[in-house]
Amino acid sequence: QNPENITVEQRGRVGLITLNRPKALNALNRDLMEEVIAAARAFDTDPAVGAIVITGSEKAFAAGADIKEMQSRSFSDVYGGDLFSDWDRITKIRKPIIAAVAGYALGGGCELAMMCDLIIAADSAKFGQPEINLGVIPGMGGTQRLTRAVGKSKAMDLVLTGRMMDAEEAERSGLVARIVPAAELVDAAVAVAETIGAKSLPVVMMAKEAVNVALETTLSEGVRFERRTFFSTFATEDQKEGMSAFVEKRDPEFKHR
Ligand code: HXC
Repeated sequence: QNPENITVEQRGRVGLITLNRPKALNALNRDLMEEVIAAARAFDTDPAVGAIVITGSEKAFAAGADIKEMQSRSFSDVYGGDLFSDWDRITKIRKPIIAAVAGYALGGGCELAMMCDLIIAADSAKFGQPEINLGVIPGMGGTQRLTRAVGKSKAMDLVLTGRMMDAEEAERSGLVARIVPAAELVDAAVAVAETIGAKSLPVVMMAKEAVNVALETTLSEGVRFERRTFFSTFATEDQKEGMSAFVEKRDPEFKHR
């Protein structure tokens, strides 16, 4: 059945998911979450797709988890139902996911962007973890991923005061990979995804996995994982093609895309 809170389209080898709940600034309710996860999983298994972009509207990537949906929940509701844990399924997607952020990325919106592999921000983007103003703390990984992305001091600043930071500050801090003019955001993110989508898909997936290992393990274990994975790229035809193309001074034609 058709999703009601998102739109889904394919541009070339890029799967584009647009959060589309404008009345609530794309607040992340249960239905929207199910739709995003279903769409991302469908793209993940579709051989015609090499990379995924998740974006929102000009005004908001997402203004957070849906406050109205959770305001009257009890402890046993949220604990028993393991509220927000289903979003972890986004981190199981093996193809690269780019978050293209314009406007507000607050609370769960910022956390969703951080679950993606890289963030491209419009100059209008505003990031924050304002949960403290609601009497709660981030619940979709914000205290962990923001701290890893920007370091302890700035993460504490954002999480404890609930203030927003603009795109410039977010880029300076390492949260954001690139800033582009707001009018070009989606095209720019799709172009980056298209660039990734033209490479060898299994090798792209290995690279993503290896970078993510850096956030989960020690340096020596991580380097060991990287080297093993690097060795295994030599089992692919695409390694032969990529290196032959270089030597023959032509563009590579990767087979496994
Ligand atoms: C539900 C939301 C919402 C949200 C906005 N809306 N954010 N509804 N959940 N998170 C709704 C508003 O109620 C309003 O609808 C409509 O969207 C437009 O919002 P306005 O506030 O009128 O817009 P504006 O004045 O431009 O202000 C934009 C804003 C503000 C600064 C982004 O909406 C805002 O502060 N939103 C909440 C941000 C936030 O606290 N996010 C963290 C949520 S907690 P109506 O129909 O009322 O007019 C979270 C993590 C949870 O994400 C983890 C805890 C366990």
